[in-house]
Amino acid sequence: MNLRSRWLAVPGFICIAALATMLSAYSGASSSERSAPEQPVRFPHTVHAGTLKMNCVYCHFSANKSPDPGLPAVGTCMGCHTVVATGKPEIQKLAGYWNRKQAVPWVRVHKLPEYVHFPHMRHVNAGVSCQTCHGQVQNMATVYQASSLNMGWCVDCHTGQSNPPFRARYDCASCHY
Ligand code: HEC
Ligand code: HEC
Ligand code: HEC
Ligand code: HEC
Ligand code: HEC
Repeated sequence: MNLRSRWLAVPGFICIAALATMLSAYSGASSSERSAPEQPVRFPHTVHAGTLKMNCVYCHFSANKSPDPGLPAVGTCMGCHTVVATGKPEIQKLAGYWNRKQAVPWVRVHKLPEYVHFPHMRHVNAGVSCQTCHGQVQNMATVYQASSLNMGWCVDCHTGQSNPPFRARYDCASCHY
């Protein structure tokens, strides 16, 4: 269903606070909180972002310049894994994709409905940390969705109610068009 038909289902004039409360009671998001799908290669953020302290943007290379943060190409991984842990079964799976010149078919964890506009770079450049929205990814053996991603969650932060507090536009057209 597109936004227009859903929007028509919202009765009359409702102030944003009431609407946000109403919508935060359940989630219409396409993906759901706590979900952690099985991945084709068991990639541990704990090792890379935790122990090795690699910067998130080393792999999610466009988080600060594009609406989409990006997922790393196999070549980024092979920069290390042609020599590191080559005997491990998960690394052999990874090398298999590399040798066949295939992208790893990573399963998407977070997904907003198509009618929502979410520019990553605006958030990253305003100083909102990855962890504020995604939780302590560097401690997650398997990444899961740490926040609801529902409209109430977005609007609460845009109206200054998050910790630490931020401010951003919250007219309907800023997130929907
Ligand atoms: C060495 C590369 C690498 C580094 C460093 C890295 N990631 Fe990732 N990240 C990946 C890969 C590969 C995936 C896809 C597989 C998965 O979901 O586990 C992923 C998935 C994710 C996802 C889920 C994406 C989705 O499908 O919704 C989030 C969120 C994420 N990373 C955040 C972070 C954060 C925050 C950091 C820094 C603390 C970080 N990553 C550091 C490689 C990396
Ligand atoms: C900067 C170097 C570096 C990069 C880049 C890197 N890794 Fe790693 N990776 C490591 C190191 C070091 C280990 C720990 C090896 C060990 O425990 O023997 C590791 C461990 C792993 C393991 C766990 C292996 C096991 O079973 O114990 C997987 C899976 C893995 N990496 C996948 C990836 C993927 C996928 C990418 C690209 C998205 C990637 N790595 C990028 C250095 C790197
Ligand atoms: C203000 C909250 C917020 C911040 C800050 C944030 N993200 Fe996200 N992230 C999201 C939402 C919401 C989605 C789902 C977007 C969608 O479906 O269009 C997402 C999706 C992702 C994805 C999956 C995208 C894909 O195409 O598969 C990755 C990877 C990711 N974020 C990494 C990061 C990293 C790394 C940082 C820090 C540099 C970061 N995010 C900062 C909220 C945030
Ligand atoms: C800061 C971003 C943001 C703003 C501002 C915003 N929305 Fe949303 N809206 C979302 C997100 C994210 C979703 C999808 C997740 C959900 O349904 O909670 C959504 C979902 C919706 C839905 C579909 C709910 C369903 O049943 O699935 C409607 C209708 C809607 N918004 C109307 C509005 C109206 C009207 C306004 C202005 C009063 C508004 N939105 C302002 C982010 C926003
Ligand atoms: C933790 C705080 C936080 C959360 C959660 C958050 N945002 Fe934001 N958002 C911001 C900040 C800060 C800015 C940047 C404001 C600026 O640049 O002046 C921003 C900017 C935006 C913009 C650009 C607005 C403009 O000025 O054009 C959009 C669109 C947006 N967010 C959508 C969303 C949606 C959709 C969600 C939920 C899925 C969301 N945001 C969740 C803090 C947040």
